[in-house]
Amino acid sequence: MSVKAEQKARNIGEKKEEGKMRVILFPVPFEGHTNPMLHLAQILYSKAFSITIIHIITHLTSLHPSNHPNFTFRSIEPDHAETCSVGGVIELITLLNRQLIEPLRKCVAELVGEVDNEIGCLITDAHWHFSQDVANEFGIRRIVLRTANISAFLGMLALPALRPFYTLPSSETNLEDPLPNLPHLRFKDLPTMNNESHHFIDQLLTSIFIQTKSSSAIIFNSFHDLEPDSLLKCHHLFSPIPIFPLGPFHKHLPLTPQPHHPSFSWLNSKPPRSVLYVSFGTLATLQPHEFLEIAWGLANSTHPFLWVVRPAMVSGSEWLERLPEGFEEMLGERGLIVKWAPQREVLAHPAIGGFWTHCGWNSTIESLCEGVPMLCYPCFGDQKSNARYVTHVWRIGVMLGDKLERGVIEKMIMKLMAEREDGEIMKRVMDLKEKADTCIKEGGSSFNSLKNLVNFILQK
Ligand code: UDX
Repeated sequence: MSVKAEQKARNIGEKKEEGKMRVILFPVPFEGHTNPMLHLAQILYSKAFSITIIHIITHLTSLHPSNHPNFTFRSIEPDHAETCSVGGVIELITLLNRQLIEPLRKCVAELVGEVDNEIGCLITDAHWHFSQDVANEFGIRRIVLRTANISAFLGMLALPALRPFYTLPSSETNLEDPLPNLPHLRFKDLPTMNNESHHFIDQLLTSIFIQTKSSSAIIFNSFHDLEPDSLLKCHHLFSPIPIFPLGPFHKHLPLTPQPHHPSFSWLNSKPPRSVLYVSFGTLATLQPHEFLEIAWGLANSTHPFLWVVRPAMVSGSEWLERLPEGFEEMLGERGLIVKWAPQREVLAHPAIGGFWTHCGWNSTIESLCEGVPMLCYPCFGDQKSNARYVTHVWRIGVMLGDKLERGVIEKMIMKLMAEREDGEIMKRVMDLKEKADTCIKEGGSSFNSLKNLVNFILQK
């Protein structure tokens, strides 16, 4: 069934959950943003709210309503010709912030017109700044969900004001200098987006900041003990808006076992903590020469590895055609290359000893929750500040360097994997794992934050 047909069916088969307060959630249609919002939806569903998801139908969507039978879905549609013609992520988000005003207004008007469930709030991704005006128009409280962490959010919001001091490549600023008021981050850790205009980025970030300040509350997929200083700064910056750091979201939910994925029979054959897991998330792409350097770096490192290469991840390739002939045969049982892996479950497998990651926030928090140290190769956006925190604040990983070069890759893999037994990095990541486990238990900071959020939504 096409997404559209599936959507129609979903609208017809509405959930009637009498007496339950309705929470409407509106995600950004990239997997790294949609997944944490769906986790939040599941958490709120478990607290007896009725869940409605506003779902944007685009060529990017990875959201299939039929996988979420407990939620009601409403779809809104942008102008496809225009959205398909934009190149970059920022440009697309900027366009959608303009294009979706009317569709969202119409959708919310319909939801408000229904009498079966009282609406508690509208929770939207921080990137949907336009939704604040729509919420105001209907007298609904908007809660901002920043699907990532607090520190990177602060760095991101500081960027437009710092821009005059930070214009690559002609900047006079020492890129190694710490940021004013955010000393853990340097100028070079500020977000960049490949080839996208500074004007678009700064305009988007400024609007996000202004409209987050006008919102009713902020939720983060992070927890107190991970970022106590940044949380305090955030309270000051957004006072008096309440802030609910109730992550790691996925830890509130049970794991869905996926025993039939080929990764598991392969992982089961490997000794504990022997395997390097390699994945760069759902958006990052590679040039063919970078792909080859990674392949040779992995092969030369002598460690077993499980490598996710998404179809079309390598420019100009469908999948693995750029690998040298006979490469996979040469690796034999030592390496497994897959198109997708159930990452949470893979990271929890005892055979995993390290994670080479691009430091997208979901990957970062999933890794630390399983006590897996990281080799960091950030690509764009918040990934650079996440990598800085991983390597220099939490000190649970090592930085690969700026370039993909097989000799460096081999050396850094060896360095990371040498940590596995009783290295300092390993001790620190196990300590954070324990903190993540504790914070969601009764009395823990995220447990309490969730309780407070539920009360906040109920006290309309
Ligand atoms: C995007 C941005 O790039 C990232 O910087 C931001 O923090 C969130 O949005 P993405 O690049 O996809 O995300 O990376 P990440 O945040 O790590 O999210 C990827 C998600 O997909 C993770 O939850 C991961 O578990 C899942 N995934 C990815 C799989 O389950 N299997 C895979 O094979 C690949």
